[in-house]
Amino acid sequence: MFDSERVIICFIWLMMSSNSAFSQNLNYYENIQPIIYENCVPCHQPGQAGPFSLLAYDDITIRSKMIQYVISQRYMPPWQADPTYRHYLNERVLTDFEIDLITEWISEGMEEGNETKERLPSKGLYHKTVPDVSLAMGESYDIPKTNRDDFRFFHLPMDIKELRYLRAIEFIPGNKRYVHHSRMMVDSTQNMAGIDGMSELDPKVYEFQKVALADEFLYGWVPGSFPLFFPDGVGKRLEPHSDLILNIHYAPNGSDQRDQSKINLYFTDKPVKREVKTLILRENDIINQPFYLPANQISNFTMKSKVLEKDISMISVMPHMHFLGKYFESYAVTENRDTIPLIRIPDWDFNWQTMYQFTHYLKIPEGSVIYAKARYDNTINNPMNQFIPPKDIGYGWRTVSEMMNLICYYVDYKKRDERHYFRTEID
Ligand code: HEC
Repeated sequence: MFDSERVIICFIWLMMSSNSAFSQNLNYYENIQPIIYENCVPCHQPGQAGPFSLLAYDDITIRSKMIQYVISQRYMPPWQADPTYRHYLNERVLTDFEIDLITEWISEGMEEGNETKERLPSKGLYHKTVPDVSLAMGESYDIPKTNRDDFRFFHLPMDIKELRYLRAIEFIPGNKRYVHHSRMMVDSTQNMAGIDGMSELDPKVYEFQKVALADEFLYGWVPGSFPLFFPDGVGKRLEPHSDLILNIHYAPNGSDQRDQSKINLYFTDKPVKREVKTLILRENDIINQPFYLPANQISNFTMKSKVLEKDISMISVMPHMHFLGKYFESYAVTENRDTIPLIRIPDWDFNWQTMYQFTHYLKIPEGSVIYAKARYDNTINNPMNQFIPPKDIGYGWRTVSEMMNLICYYVDYKKRDERHYFRTEID
């Protein structure tokens, strides 16, 4: 190599190295903190679900080995959907580049760098507006001291006298350590009040399960979930005098705990131009009936929608199964046999089920059929199996039974919808 070439290469190398030309090392404030604040801190800060805070430099360095491990395994941040299948608005996934960056920083000795300006942790989507209605559970609930999971139903009258349209829904857990996940339903029959405070182990749940709810899955929440909200001019209908039903999963706890969770509702102030509709695939849409999981077997089921009679624009999807679920996949097949991926969850985890909002309106053309496939493992090899030895399992709301659902929110298609990307905040 000629000397002049060497000089040029050396010069390029200098240009490419970070702002301080002589220190090539990554440092915390510049390279690492932005990733941690965006992807970890929403849960790992005081009062949130994560078991420790990751707000400060020292919080990271004392746990560097563990952090390195959980990010390389993609165990953290918790995100169930396969990002190679589809991306979502509320996605929280580290890129390979970010994982490499943190790994490299740890192996280089974790230089701190200089804090130039204080960085505020990301609060996630939608936090500017004050809710129109903030509904708290009637009284705080004493979570029994138990080494078992506790599943409870709560009934919250909404006290709305006229037809309203929801533009956003937010769940605020009262006890952030023990509220493990929750699901919201809407009843417009006014027949559900008696379920308030009921344990899912109570056989009376069977009676309530028969009530035809206006919405079986208004919204599903897990720690760190973003609120669900709809684009401008779009809203979800709420009948007057509807009631909200909450199903909360409390984690086992070794001391007396209380919870008074709440739900924030945001209404549209103008009449909506487009109403959010719900398409649900449920157990009776299974094409290989019956929905029954014999003990010691792995069972596979496929659900299939009716043929869509018009173009639709999908907003979100939410798969639902209980503890025996292992795999879930859903896609639409168009008349031309094109496949439109909706969601794939390669390693289902009951504890992290949530709603997935698309990044933009996803057009599903008229003539398409929506499929969903699920696998259940009712053998002793499934660590989530609640019965050893395994028992035959059928359908039911209780978590000792199983379910298979896909809940899709959509609006009727309008020209150029697919170019409309959802914003992460509303004013
Ligand atoms: C959506 C909320 C959420 C986000 C985001 C999140 N965590 Fe966690 N994290 C948790 C919860 C809850 C636990 C405890 C339960 C568990 O281990 O699954 C946990 C546990 C951990 C643990 C302990 C694991 C163990 O086996 O004890 C580490 C380390 C960790 N998180 C690091 C991170 C890092 C690093 C990020 C960002 C890249 C992150 N977390 C993002 C909620 C979250």
